[in-house]
Amino acid sequence: MDAFAPKTKEEQEKEERTYQPYTEIMSTLPKVRGFAPQHLYNHQGFWYTESNLPRVMAVQNHFIAHSSDILLATNPKCGTTWLKSLIFAICNRKLHPSTQHPLLTVNSHQLVPFLELLYTNNEIPDLDILPSPRLLATHIPYSSLPQSVLDSGCPLVYMCRNPKDTFVSWWHFLNKISNKELKPSTLEEAFEMFCNGASIVGPFWDHVLDYWRASLDRPQCVMFLKYEEMQAETIVHVKRLAKFVRCPFSLEEEKEGVVDEIIRLCSYENLSRLEVNKTGEAMFGENEIKFHTFFRKGKVGDSSNYLTAEMTERLDRISEQKFHGYGLTLN
Ligand code: A3P
Repeated sequence: MDAFAPKTKEEQEKEERTYQPYTEIMSTLPKVRGFAPQHLYNHQGFWYTESNLPRVMAVQNHFIAHSSDILLATNPKCGTTWLKSLIFAICNRKLHPSTQHPLLTVNSHQLVPFLELLYTNNEIPDLDILPSPRLLATHIPYSSLPQSVLDSGCPLVYMCRNPKDTFVSWWHFLNKISNKELKPSTLEEAFEMFCNGASIVGPFWDHVLDYWRASLDRPQCVMFLKYEEMQAETIVHVKRLAKFVRCPFSLEEEKEGVVDEIIRLCSYENLSRLEVNKTGEAMFGENEIKFHTFFRKGKVGDSSNYLTAEMTERLDRISEQKFHGYGLTLN
């Protein structure tokens, strides 16, 4: 099924007119040079790239969620690729034998697309024709999600990660995808911007807090996961995750090793060695990104190899200040 079936000239013109006001609104928004390929624009308290913001506005105005949808949300570099793989494998486990699993030949970003990237080239896709349950991912902060997502009551899974490893992962990622327009930045430059909140969908801490508070207010709809806890006790959290997205493992499945098999399939070691993830690539908006850039080390605590003691202290201090009183720690 093609959500981007050919459109008539009139339909195309209508869609272009739909996007026109977004560009006009953007010209009035605060703008900074950010930790990103392009300038960042502030919309509803969060920073977006010039190319992504119109898409986010289109999602806000046009996406209609279904109660059967499953939505994953992350801050970039917090384990999106892993979470997408796990949820795809959990939800589709009855359809695919492990020897011919789609994850062995297709990257999880193609199996679970980013919602905002579906609103591309000034188009409004017909997402109603996608098979149910629709598995979609987003970086949009909770408070900026379309109202229909909140009204639908669909399960929303958020994964976060400690800011030190997130920042270091981001810096490596952006430098790897650097090109003529995106100049590599030094660690120090990037660090200043990250601390000041000027990262994509930053401030990082506000994004995390937005979903944390939502998970406390609406625990039946919003699940909050930490990358570090997923690494430490994968089996416990994968079972919780399956239950939350309404695909719980039966006792027979557990006995037969289905949970372990999914964990192994989606592990960093397995996915990063697959040909598709070593040599494949795809368009993410207007950027062609090689899949191997989503797999670097997959380790907790690797930031200590890059950050000075002062940098670590500064990030810890911001976390303490921002999360104070909310019962949340990310170390
Ligand atoms: P590092 O750069 O610290 O290695 P995202 O998917 O949100 O872009 O996050 C990328 C980070 O998740 C990278 O972290 C990457 O190595 C790690 N990652 C990718 N696949 C993973 C997996 N299957 N299990 C654990 N971590 C994974």
